[in-house]
Amino acid sequence: MTERIIIDTDPGIDDSMAILLALASPEVSLEGLTVVHGNCTAAQGTRNALAVLELAGAGNIPVAKGCDLPLVQPSLLAPETHGDTGLGYARLPEAAQPPLRQHAVDFLIERLLAEPGEYTLVAVGPLTNLAMAIRREPKIIPAIKRVISMGGAIRHQGNTTPLAEFNVYVDPHAAHIVYHSGVPFTLVPLDVTYHCILTRADVGRLLKVPSPVPRFVHDTTRFYMDFHDANQKIDGCVINDALALALVFAPQLCDFEEHYVDVDIQGGVSMGKTFADFYRMTGKPANMKVALGVRARDFLDLFVERIENLSRAVPG
Ligand code: BDR
Ligand code: CA
Repeated sequence: MTERIIIDTDPGIDDSMAILLALASPEVSLEGLTVVHGNCTAAQGTRNALAVLELAGAGNIPVAKGCDLPLVQPSLLAPETHGDTGLGYARLPEAAQPPLRQHAVDFLIERLLAEPGEYTLVAVGPLTNLAMAIRREPKIIPAIKRVISMGGAIRHQGNTTPLAEFNVYVDPHAAHIVYHSGVPFTLVPLDVTYHCILTRADVGRLLKVPSPVPRFVHDTTRFYMDFHDANQKIDGCVINDALALALVFAPQLCDFEEHYVDVDIQGGVSMGKTFADFYRMTGKPANMKVALGVRARDFLDLFVERIENLSRAVPG
C-alpha cells in the first residue's frame, strides 16, 4: 500500500534531496508540496519546489506557497547555509507550471478534511504552516494520519545556536503548538540526521548516470558541503530532510523512543531548545516518538540507489 504524503518544506538543499527521494520511492505517492519560509523566503522556496519537481519530470504535482514569517519571531533565513537562492550553486530553469493560487494553509486544511486519515505530512521546515492550519481549523488534528518532522536537537548540540536546531529555532512557537496539538508525531532531530553525511564519493557515483538529476545534486550539495566543511569540519553534507522522508517507508533505519518533548519559548540562551523528559520527571505522558538511533550508511545507500534509479528515468 502506498503512503499518501504532503511535504511541507523550505527548499532548501536537503529539502530538495527529500523531494527527489519521494519521487524516487514507489512506496509513497507525493500529492503536494506546501512551502514555508526558512532556508529562503516562501516565494523563492516555491520557485525552487516547482523547479525541482520539473527537473524530475513531476511538474504536475501541486505546490502551494505558505507563510512567509514565523508566528512571533522576526524572520530568519539561511543564505549562508543554502545560498542566496536556497539551492546552493545549482541554477535550475524557471518552472513552466505556476503554483496553486490557494494558500498552503488552506490547501492543507482542504486536503486533510476531504480525506481524513489518509495523509502523512512530512514537515521539513519550520512548522509555521502546520501550526497556522491547526489554529485556523482544529478539525484537521484527528484527520492527520501522522506528522514526521525533521527538527530539534535532543541530546545533540544545536546547529543554529549552541542549543537549538534551525527549523525549531526559526519558529519555536509554531513547534510548541504542533507538539502539544495531539497529532500523532514523529520527531527526526539532529541526533540522527547528523550521522547521515552524503559524501563526495556518493555524489561521484550518482554522476555516472547521464541525467540532469545528478548534475543538480552535485551543484546544490557542493555549496552545502563547502558550508559544512568551513563551519562544522564535516567532510560531506548532512541531508537531514531526506532521512525524515525515508522514515515514511523505511522506519527500520532508526530506533525510536516515546517521550514527552517540549520546546523552550521563553527566550534567552535556550530559546528554541527541544528537550525530552527521559526520566519521566514531569509526570506528563509522551507526546511523540523520537528517532534517537540511526543506521546511517543503510540510509545513504538507499538514498543513492534510489536517486540513481530516478536519474535513469530522467536521461539527458
Ligand atoms: C534543517 O534546517 C534546514 O537548514 C534544513 O533544510 C533542515 O530542514 C536542519 O537543521
Ligand atoms: Ca528544510
